[in-house]
Amino acid sequence: MNVEFYERIWMWAAVLLLVLFVGTILVTATSEAIRPPSHMETIDPGALADSPEFSNPAVIVRPDGSVVVSVVAQMFSFSPNPIEVPANRPVTFRITSADVDHGFEILGTNANATVLPGYVSQFTMTFTKPGVYTIGCNEYCGLLHHNMTGMLVVNDPESSR
Ligand code: CUA
Repeated sequence: MNVEFYERIWMWAAVLLLVLFVGTILVTATSEAIRPPSHMETIDPGALADSPEFSNPAVIVRPDGSVVVSVVAQMFSFSPNPIEVPANRPVTFRITSADVDHGFEILGTNANATVLPGYVSQFTMTFTKPGVYTIGCNEYCGLLHHNMTGMLVVNDPESSR
């Protein structure tokens, strides 16, 4: 089979692009922890008031010492606010929306989840640097979207003793 020289160049360019794209996905998934969502849990957004967890979203320390933060996002705030968690301990965030699509991004970290009504977004991370972090909504959700921020306070348990 005879393949034209220029066609050969384009074929190899296409293969190179595929390798590049798949490589990018592999590198970010392994080294940057950039992953598609893996947690699938549904909830009735109209019945959050009846939910034992989301009717009063809060930071809870379980008996085994693990920290769970339940968050409700709704136009144009996050609840609870501020969120206070300890440093150097795995913190599991469970976030849902009471109205429209929102985002939950902890600026300066790789924590970033889309928050959809009807679903619970969940991820776990450990904060090694105590301090105050800003939480931003990065999904356009209405006229005051740009005002939708929250505060995360990471406390150093060692220094408060
Ligand atoms: Cu909530 Cu933008």
